[in-house]
Amino acid sequence: MRRKFVAGNWKMNGSANSIRELLQGIREGAAEVAAVELAVFPSFVYLGLVEQQLSDSSIGWGAQNLSEHASGAHTGEVAGSMLQDFHCDYVIVGHSERRTLYGETDEIVARKFATARKIGLKPILCVGETLQEREQGVTEAVVERQIKAVLDLEGISGFADAVIAYEPVWAIGTGRTATAGQAQEVHAFIRAKLAQLDSALASQVRILYGGSMKAANAAELLAMPDIDGGLIGGASLEAKEFLAIAKAGC
Ligand code: PGA
Repeated sequence: MRRKFVAGNWKMNGSANSIRELLQGIREGAAEVAAVELAVFPSFVYLGLVEQQLSDSSIGWGAQNLSEHASGAHTGEVAGSMLQDFHCDYVIVGHSERRTLYGETDEIVARKFATARKIGLKPILCVGETLQEREQGVTEAVVERQIKAVLDLEGISGFADAVIAYEPVWAIGTGRTATAGQAQEVHAFIRAKLAQLDSALASQVRILYGGSMKAANAAELLAMPDIDGGLIGGASLEAKEFLAIAKAGC
């Protein structure tokens, strides 16, 4: 049985004060949604604060990115070992904003995935097609290519402790959500691809949906057999909304 997982990707939002307030709100409601795993993903500079606020709670945390390199002359980058200093459980790799705004290729994303795993951080691999790709009918080919880059480097066993997030680029931050049917179709496709290599592992891997998921549409999405949770952007910045999404997964 896959435990539902609701993760808040805060992106480049928040301040020390707003984060304290947000976490207090999430902590207050967390017991009510204990059936669902919760985690938050602040900017790097707030990881210490988040660790301090959450270390005695059941809520996990992680980073939004990491360097593919272990250490050295990489000004402005953050190494996985530094994330471990803040006891991160997870790290997001290959978010579409990293791919499109910061030039991360499938190969770079795969190397980041490998770097994370090597030091025991669980990667959350984001995949998803643009609107143009969906309209061209190549959604499955795009998602398959993105996953294959990781399989080529890490093999199917690389996904044992990993999480996948299907995030159609056209649905991120746009208020436009994939229908539950559209999302389920891609989630099932991803699971079937992994199952061709290892069916037991494929049945364990959690595949989250991301892209304008909110309390109002969460129940329908989370009711789908292959949607195991959500990677939530905008709606994760409000404790009530974030908790309501988790509640829909209980
Ligand atoms: P959104 O972002 O929920 O604001 O669409 C999701 C994401 O980018 O992870």
